[in-house]
Amino acid sequence: MTQISLPKHSKLLSSDFLFGVATSSFQIEGAAAQREPSIWDTFCAEPGRIKDSSNGLVACEHIKHWREDVQIIGKLGVDAYRFSIAWGRVVNADGSVNRQGLQFYIDLVDALLANGIQAHVTLYHWDLPQYLQDQGGWLNRETAYRFAEYAEVVGRALGDKITTYATINEPFCSAYLSYEAGIHAPGHKNRREGRQAAHHLLLAHGLAMPVLRKHAPRAQHGIVLNFSPCHPATDSEADRRAAMQAHNYHNLWYLQPLLSASYPDLLQQLQVEDQPSVAAGDMAIISQPLDFLGVNYYTRTVFRAKNDWFSDVPPTAPPLTSMGWEIYPQGLTEILTDLNRSFANLPPIYITENGVAFPDKVIKNSVHDDARIDYYQQHLLAVHDCIEAGVEINGYFAWSLLDNFEWAEGYSKRFGIVYVDFDSQQRILKSSALALQAFWLDRKSQLPAVEAL
Ligand code: FCB
Repeated sequence: MTQISLPKHSKLLSSDFLFGVATSSFQIEGAAAQREPSIWDTFCAEPGRIKDSSNGLVACEHIKHWREDVQIIGKLGVDAYRFSIAWGRVVNADGSVNRQGLQFYIDLVDALLANGIQAHVTLYHWDLPQYLQDQGGWLNRETAYRFAEYAEVVGRALGDKITTYATINEPFCSAYLSYEAGIHAPGHKNRREGRQAAHHLLLAHGLAMPVLRKHAPRAQHGIVLNFSPCHPATDSEADRRAAMQAHNYHNLWYLQPLLSASYPDLLQQLQVEDQPSVAAGDMAIISQPLDFLGVNYYTRTVFRAKNDWFSDVPPTAPPLTSMGWEIYPQGLTEILTDLNRSFANLPPIYITENGVAFPDKVIKNSVHDDARIDYYQQHLLAVHDCIEAGVEINGYFAWSLLDNFEWAEGYSKRFGIVYVDFDSQQRILKSSALALQAFWLDRKSQLPAVEAL
């Protein structure tokens, strides 16, 4: 596979759809000395937490090379760039604003707009300032209020220059992986903590929404969730029940409060001491209308029954990605058509992340990643199928623009369409970037010309 193409009538080819590339602050920025330490700095410093013992102190040195990165985005022919803001680069431990840090994002946004690229901002992509973790992090209800204050600083500075504001990226990861499974910072393993963190993350989202609306009345406001269809390992009733529990626990736990102001009934099956504290009025704060839902999709997950609960069954059949994930494009169509049937008020969707890690190699200054081109081709067709099946999807962002710090996996997993040599910081467009670029530029050339103002 070397080319990307879609049916001529596809909505993805129309001006009602947008394409972009995505990154997040901690994964690319570096320049750690110019911001407050985050929970990921602390986590990386703990032995055994990160596979290659690396950290985010330098990463892609995006803070130094951002102009070059904006040039690359411009050349690709995308409509939009999704990035996140590092909370600790904007708000200092004493509550004052880091003017230099904030200015970085103002300059970035201005440069994007000058290049005709929309800016799509995520406020929280997991890099909680350590000074807030020292007060309990997401276990402390106060963190949600601090988040709304931080949103005010960003909303005031960037306002309507931003096309979409997403409050939180994947609360599943910041709650479950971080406080319950011990895989992400701060690395706790406690079910009650996981459930409480999830609630406070959702509350933070709800508290920030009106603040953002006030400062950016013309922007769209929403949140980004990750979804994975949960399949039973066998057809047995026990496994089917386990898969359903996993769907409720991992997918609906975040969506249902937002759209229906309630947690799944599965909550009642948890020990009372594991259930989160929910204050009166919280669910109304959490469930205010969303302008969009960001959806991150990578793979499906398989579960079997274990002690009346569920346990995941990792895939073994090749081809698997570097992450050990199955390539399962039809899962995107399945989960989104399913959610569309289940929720009458499902907001319009942007696919805010989709992509794949492969063991890329540089040969004569090129990276031939045809399998990644194939991945994008198949997943873009899946998006097309979703739209044909009646789901409103308005955009798609490739994860990721750059190879970067892949959390607990360190730099060993390359998700970029642009290769990064972490020694020299050289960027090389992989074959996938070139194929997407050809597709995006061709698409642009077919769109009706924007009328001069
Ligand atoms: C998502 C994260 C993103 C990246 C991809 C591979 O869960 O949002 O930062 O790590 O997975």
